[in-house]
Amino acid sequence: MNAIVLRELGGPEKLVLEQVPDPAPTPGQVMVRLRAAALNHRDAWIRQGLYAGITLPIILGSDGAGDVVAVGDGVDRALIGSAVVINPSLDWGTDDRAQGPKYHILGLPDNGTYAELIAVPAENVCPKPAALSWAQAAAIPLAGLTAYRALFSRAQLKAGETVLITGIGGGVATLALLFARHAGARVLVTSGSDDKLARARDLGADGGVNYRVEGWAKQLQALAGGGPDVIVDSAGKDSFASLLDIIKPGGRIVTFGATTGSPSTIEVRKLFWKQISILGSTMGTAAEFGAMLELFARGLAPVVDQVWPLAETAAAHAHMDRAGQFGKIVLSIA
Ligand SMILES: NC(=O)c1ccc[n+]([C@@H]2O[C@H](COP(=O)([O-])OP(=O)(O)OC[C@H]3O[C@@H](n4cnc5c(N)ncnc54)[C@H](OP(=O)(O)O)[C@@H]3O)[C@@H](O)[C@H]2O)c1
Repeated sequence: MNAIVLRELGGPEKLVLEQVPDPAPTPGQVMVRLRAAALNHRDAWIRQGLYAGITLPIILGSDGAGDVVAVGDGVDRALIGSAVVINPSLDWGTDDRAQGPKYHILGLPDNGTYAELIAVPAENVCPKPAALSWAQAAAIPLAGLTAYRALFSRAQLKAGETVLITGIGGGVATLALLFARHAGARVLVTSGSDDKLARARDLGADGGVNYRVEGWAKQLQALAGGGPDVIVDSAGKDSFASLLDIIKPGGRIVTFGATTGSPSTIEVRKLFWKQISILGSTMGTAAEFGAMLELFARGLAPVVDQVWPLAETAAAHAHMDRAGQFGKIVLSIA
């Protein structure tokens, strides 16, 4: 099969199209002929050597949608021919509160979805929401799962509450915007681009502020009328401390990423005096994946930024490195 193989760490040019042996489904697995895959920032972190446990060579990619073309022993043959999306959350474990020690994400250390074929556990495929295109279906899995757990399982977002989503151009952020609007929340956003703020308003955001502008945190607090009830953040580092100023007393801050860096100094007295809850969130359970997919059966559609042929994965990565995207960057696989 054709696949994009990463043999050396570095820039986007390290992602090279190669012919590699087809995978074969082991007992309990299905083989999927992928029609589309999608990028996540995780793939860029791995490519640059900024992720734990990297093994090379590796086929990156956590998101994929396609047709089941073969099954391993013990799997119902009726699955052959079904259109599926892949849940990239592997071996979560038995505790809904946190993943267990065997937990891993598709695309490292197992080969991922930047390929024509992939073998995955049968329990990790779900029916593709019928109304979605292949590109839209592939855009959902990792980012949708992350956004769903952060907003609903962790922050317990309710209708009528105000939520701030930072860095709205990101794949997870645009899905969080869709889900929060669907849940009846008022949504505020930040971005480093005025154009992306305008696009977020077109998608239903109630307002936004450019985080590159001096005084952005105060502007946001005013916009929220005393601060949002919930903040969903993946920027991390220095701006994380400002979230304690912006949030309403008694509010919840969920963090699931550190795009700008991880170390952050916060004022502990603000945390306790304002009765703030800080919640960490990563990916999600199979039940959360199923509940998230249900939203797409009810008419939601993810924001697809641009679709690139698999052979042009390097160009798609360069686009992500520039934060050029608004929504998900997708790879089409012939
Ligand atoms: N823990 C988990 O399970 C999990 C799951 C998914 C993702 N993540 C992490 O979450 C982050 C986002 O992932 P993604 O795949 O959605 O990435 P992405 O599509 O590449 O989006 C990254 C976004 O970060 C925003 N950003 C950059 N600098 C910022 C700043 N100073 N303040 C606020 N936002 C800023 C940009 O938004 P604008 O262009 O609008 O400025 C950019 O579009 C990554 O760090 C990723 O590793 C973690």
